[in-house]
Amino acid sequence: MDIALRRGFIWPSFEIYGGVSGFYDFGPLGSLLKNKIIQKWREYYVLGEGFFEVDSPAVTPEEVLKASGHVNHFVDAMTECQKCGAAFRVADVVREVTGRDVEGMSKGEMEQFMKKHGVRCPDCNGELGHVFDFNAIFRTTIGPGTQRVGYLRPETAQGIFIDFKRLQRHARGRLPFGAVQIGRGYRNEISPRQGIIRLREFTMAEAEVFFDPEDPHHPKFSDVAGEKFRLWLAVDQEKGRERLNEVTAEQAVDGKLVCNELMAYYIALTKRFLGDIGIPKGAVRFRQQTPGQRAHYSAETWDAEVLTERFGWVEVAGLAYRTDYDLTRHAEASGEDLAVFSADKKRKVICHVVEPSYGIDRPLYCLLEHAFAQERGRAYLRLKKDMAPIEVGVFPLLNRDGLPEKAEVVYEGLRREGFMAEYDESGSIGRRYARADEVGTPYCVTIDHRTLEDETATIRDRDTAKQVRAEIKELPRLLRSLLSGEMPFEMAGEAVKSKSERP
Ligand code: GLY
Repeated sequence: MDIALRRGFIWPSFEIYGGVSGFYDFGPLGSLLKNKIIQKWREYYVLGEGFFEVDSPAVTPEEVLKASGHVNHFVDAMTECQKCGAAFRVADVVREVTGRDVEGMSKGEMEQFMKKHGVRCPDCNGELGHVFDFNAIFRTTIGPGTQRVGYLRPETAQGIFIDFKRLQRHARGRLPFGAVQIGRGYRNEISPRQGIIRLREFTMAEAEVFFDPEDPHHPKFSDVAGEKFRLWLAVDQEKGRERLNEVTAEQAVDGKLVCNELMAYYIALTKRFLGDIGIPKGAVRFRQQTPGQRAHYSAETWDAEVLTERFGWVEVAGLAYRTDYDLTRHAEASGEDLAVFSADKKRKVICHVVEPSYGIDRPLYCLLEHAFAQERGRAYLRLKKDMAPIEVGVFPLLNRDGLPEKAEVVYEGLRREGFMAEYDESGSIGRRYARADEVGTPYCVTIDHRTLEDETATIRDRDTAKQVRAEIKELPRLLRSLLSGEMPFEMAGEAVKSKSERP
């Protein structure tokens, strides 16, 4: 967090006014990293899956969220301290004080649990009051006056359901088909106390996969059939067992551990995606929500969770089997016929939906934490090379003899070639390498006296501190191959002996 704050990844929002919990700014490096995660997500869902991307408003009229059930059901159990008035989400305060999970319990059961385990206000030790429902959607009005109520969307998914008919036409009647949306979601969290893990405004990347309920097959299932993942079943959680089932996607379907092939496919894809942005495989599990934990629209939900040092297991994506819930509700409320022909054109069906829904902010935190490395007195981010916000640092070895001028030309040239490069001439070269390592910059190009004679420069590798010397005109090609992982570092040029190299 020190690096994240100091180096411009994450900053508390509205800081000079004291900040407001549940809101964070992404600084220059955080914004670049966030964009890389989004770009990777698009590679999976827009390019890989061929899903259509839409972009709908965050302000949503009341009738949409009444039909979707959010106005009535999007609630959190809350309690207030009778002494200091602090408000708490019951599940959070109980977890904080006892380490236990009460999500899914009735309000009465929560009250009994808190009494039995002596859960009191963590701020002043006062008594906590009754448990009641708090609706977490931000309310506003559309236009002047109070006639037209609107809400800031709690999920981007509804924008896709509303566009269903047009999207289905765009897909020329094909089933299954998918649509995605990446954008801000808003939840008026009761008392967010977990930094970037519980935000009131956050970025989501959601996919809605529409399919014929009698045909829940994915055309590319064979690509992931052998992919292994770890499932924590709801029955095991209910019995207090921490047992994980490691199965392949195929075994998950055949053993009926998951509701259908599409769900298994997207669990496998989620696992691949998380690995691809740099979350270690061993730190990922899929937890099946118990019936009491599931959202009102879901018949089965799997949370992709990542193990972190600071927050324990963190949910970074939720995969929900939304059945025909949303389309049926919107058809009823709007009067539109949302039934379509089945794939064989013989039946009319209301499509069912499997929804892989990702947060972007939480995976960003998780990957920063997992990338953080400390060795031999240096702290740095071992980010995957293709995820690093700054791809290449460009430095003059010394701040004289025409080296800065030459380095600036190289820096400008690399930016023109599309590299996110950074120029740095302040302090010793060792300090500049350390600064670049600290934010995970995989390569640094250094301009020295020899550069002025033969148009070559050194390239330094972040993880090993090894250096090679290469021609400046070759840098774009070499850096592209290095960043994509296609070229081993040693192949990028003639090896250089360096004092800062680690054995
Ligand atoms: N669309 C998934 C969610 O709202 O959590």
